[in-house]
Amino acid sequence: MEVVICATPDEVARVAAAKVARVLRDAGPRAVLGVATGSSPLALYAELAALAASGRLALGEVSAFALDEYVGLPYEHPESYHSVIDRTVTRPLGLDPARVHVPNGMAADIAAAASDYEAAIKTAGGVDVQILGVGSNGHIGFNEPTSSLASRTRIKTLTARTREDNARFFPTLDDVPRHCLTQGLGTIMDARACVLVAQGEAKADAVAALIEGPITAMVPGSVLQWHPHATIVIDEAAAAGLTLAGYYRETFDNKPHWQAYAR
Ligand code: GLP
Repeated sequence: MEVVICATPDEVARVAAAKVARVLRDAGPRAVLGVATGSSPLALYAELAALAASGRLALGEVSAFALDEYVGLPYEHPESYHSVIDRTVTRPLGLDPARVHVPNGMAADIAAAASDYEAAIKTAGGVDVQILGVGSNGHIGFNEPTSSLASRTRIKTLTARTREDNARFFPTLDDVPRHCLTQGLGTIMDARACVLVAQGEAKADAVAALIEGPITAMVPGSVLQWHPHATIVIDEAAAAGLTLAGYYRETFDNKPHWQAYAR
């Protein structure tokens, strides 16, 4: 696991975008990008949009797969992840909407929608780089604590904490859906690289548990310790609970030149 501690949230976005852009370039014009909702990756998307706008990153033929979607929230709803991904990823990055996929939380047969989504990722050749945030309870995607570390795309019930965290996007807590369709931890682990971003002190406990705690279904993001190419990019506030912060800084500052990337 590579841990990069940045001075500011802006630097988090720049470093993470540099990492994602490198993987996409290496994967070629038809690369497959995994995208997350949430506020954490917004500045990273803005950086990728700027790279694309200046011609330094070609995204026109790139496919994208979102991690998750609420069950039973119509696509047109402004907080459906179909809408959120369209607004924050597809349009700003100039992706081809036909190549952007979000799980179908409105399907009559949710189990079939889940297996169709797995099949679509496979058909696209698998995800080259998966962008991730982390929930305050350590979830990635919507894989809540006690999710199987081998899980695939399926329906999940949201925890009270996640519904409270996401209530800011809805008129009342009662309006937050109870169920979601999410890529599983096993699905996410199939991505060839993962880049997780987190900012702010509210994420410090989850970040410390994910990076330095035991691998446990109680902290679903901790499964990334088992991933061969996981990069965690965080700001100082989110890094506050880390025991080996000095080591992570030293590692980044002394990378061999062929491995280094700019802040
Ligand atoms: C949401 C999403 C996750 C996201 C997380 C954190 O519920 N399903 O993919 O990483 O919660 O959100 P934020 O970045 O807004 O803190």
